[in-house]
Amino acid sequence: MATKPPVVGIYPGTFDPITNGHLDLIERGARLVDRLVVSVLRNERKQPLFSVQERMEMAREVTAGFSNVEVDHFDGLLVDYACSKRASVIIRGIRAISDYEYELQMALMNRRLRPEIETVFLMSGEAYSFLSSQIVKEVIRLGGNISGLVPPIVEATLKNRFPGERIEGCKQHSI
Ligand code: PNS
Repeated sequence: MATKPPVVGIYPGTFDPITNGHLDLIERGARLVDRLVVSVLRNERKQPLFSVQERMEMAREVTAGFSNVEVDHFDGLLVDYACSKRASVIIRGIRAISDYEYELQMALMNRRLRPEIETVFLMSGEAYSFLSSQIVKEVIRLGGNISGLVPPIVEATLKNRFPGERIEGCKQHSI
């Protein structure tokens, strides 16, 4: 009997930077496929805070504990990249109904471009349903507490990038 090829999944994103919400998705996704490739989009149009190298480094460090997860980057069409990796699955997270329209549009376009690649939506853990890289950057830039929202090395990197000012005499709330 022929052996089945390993199922390769791509988890694409901007990851600027990777958050605990992304990590939650990676943990769920890694249980569903044989190999999961966390793929960082080199997207200069979005003017990311971190370079693709920095985003990959952080993603590598925080996923080092998963034996079937690797980190890579890509340019151009996601489905062409997925094909080059012999991936049959694209994994995306849905946090709230507001994500659905954009995700549906992307998934249907990707299916039209390469019907053999299936998009699988995973629900984020409810603790992360409000979380995005964007909101984390805004909070840290304004001196707020982001512990518990991003892995410690990401928190340290963000704090370096935004030394920030905190309002004296006002206790920070922990999460
Ligand atoms: O983390 P993000 O910014 O929500 O990720 C968006 C991403 C990288 C999945 C999306 O922008 C993408 O796939 N870009 C690659 C270009 C592409 O394939 N576009 C056509 C899909 S509709």
